[in-house]
Amino acid sequence: MKSHLGHPVFSLLAETAQNNAIEAYVIGGFVRDILLHRPSKDIDIVVLGNGIEFAELLGAKLKTKVNVFKNFGTAMLRYNDLELEFVGARKESYRADSRKPIVEDGTIEDDQLRRDFTINALAISLNKDNFGQLVDPFGGVDDLDNRIIRTPLGPEITFSDDPLRMMRAIRFASQLNFSIDPEALAAITKQKERISIVSTERITDELNKIILSPIPSVGFNYLFDTGLLHIIFPQMANLFGVDIINGKGHKDNFYHTLQVLDNISLYTNDLWLRWAAILHDIAKPATKRFEEGHGWTFHGHEDKGSRMVPQIFAQLKLPLNEKMKYVQKLVQLHLRPIVLAQEVVTDSAVRRLLFDAGEDIESLMTLCNADVTTKNEYKVKKYRNNFELVKQKLKDVEERDKVRNWQPPITGQDIMDIFGIKAGKEVGLIKNAIREAILEGEIPNRYDQALEFMLNKGKEFGLTPITQQ
Ligand code: CTP
Repeated sequence: MKSHLGHPVFSLLAETAQNNAIEAYVIGGFVRDILLHRPSKDIDIVVLGNGIEFAELLGAKLKTKVNVFKNFGTAMLRYNDLELEFVGARKESYRADSRKPIVEDGTIEDDQLRRDFTINALAISLNKDNFGQLVDPFGGVDDLDNRIIRTPLGPEITFSDDPLRMMRAIRFASQLNFSIDPEALAAITKQKERISIVSTERITDELNKIILSPIPSVGFNYLFDTGLLHIIFPQMANLFGVDIINGKGHKDNFYHTLQVLDNISLYTNDLWLRWAAILHDIAKPATKRFEEGHGWTFHGHEDKGSRMVPQIFAQLKLPLNEKMKYVQKLVQLHLRPIVLAQEVVTDSAVRRLLFDAGEDIESLMTLCNADVTTKNEYKVKKYRNNFELVKQKLKDVEERDKVRNWQPPITGQDIMDIFGIKAGKEVGLIKNAIREAILEGEIPNRYDQALEFMLNKGKEFGLTPITQQ
């Protein structure tokens, strides 16, 4: 491993250790990421003894400020673009009702044993007699090779000590496309309720990392199968299942949603667009009906789903800002391009879609493409062709009419000024009528034509322009 410690900071660390007769190791994510060929800038150092004192010795040598977190017994310093964290080797035990450990000094192996997973418990020596040697008492390298998430200790202890690790196990499995060791999986299933002592922010942080992983269904399948999803995000777990009436079933909306999420993840790394994929059918269970002679329907699931978004965001402590509005809008509009693609694509329908989606039209088209999950090759082809048609039409109409992020050429203020009236119902009605006429293609998107239309509309309400009064 020596060749991976070429950065000058490692010889400085080794020198500090040597001069002060302290044993030190690089440990955790940094070592794992070397073996996974993923460069990392966060370096965790564990020393046998006092981590803060060691950090201060190095800080003095580098003439760099050291941030000390006395309560945690840790210290941090920056060196160029690297962030180094220092801690003393620990032997820990936990109480049943808290994530806060009782800590004692320990050996390097004690420290490795108390870490979450074997792949995160690898260490590299910074000591003179074995500098660069990998210290792997729990088979972390084998687990990396076999693509397995396993705990160094019995999994029930590891997860009970810190229940956030149940989410972390699933997050690493999803990020790396690893499987979780069956014993560890059984322990998560057994102790899932202990997730309740973890803060929502931390849970959601892990959930977002699962969502951002290359194939997010890997993580979501684990969340569902262990029962964690039912606790942290019950609305999504509720998508699972198929009802059958008169021999007719509908598709399983949980697995459909996972397919849409995996599909969209091939095209975007945007967390919020991926959230829109997760939530697009979230109201299907609540709107499900069986209609005689027709089969299963989910009328209005896009409206209801869009209305469910703020509550779900609040529950998961996701931001209640423009990101949420973006997700709401995509959930609300997710059926529109499909409906459009099934009919003759008229200019006015395209203009309306552009007007409603505004700058989010590309996101909406990406979502709709991902929403095609039928196994029927013929149908897939048909949908994709129709989408191409819709896309072409969107381009044509946008070039000609510029409806995206468009404001009608006549404002409410113009209407009030021209007719000399105060704000009121008529202003809204006239404004709407102008917008509709332009979107329907009755008049072009131009001021003079809109003005003429407005004057005629005014007449219907008995209004005359100020200039003629
Ligand atoms: N760790 C742990 N239990 C936790 C969190 C962290 O045992 N609940 C240990 C692991 O050894 C981990 C190290 O602390 O490797 C650093 O944790 P962190 O920085 O959170 O994670 P990384 O493993 O570095 O991975 P990532 O940066 O992807 O979060």
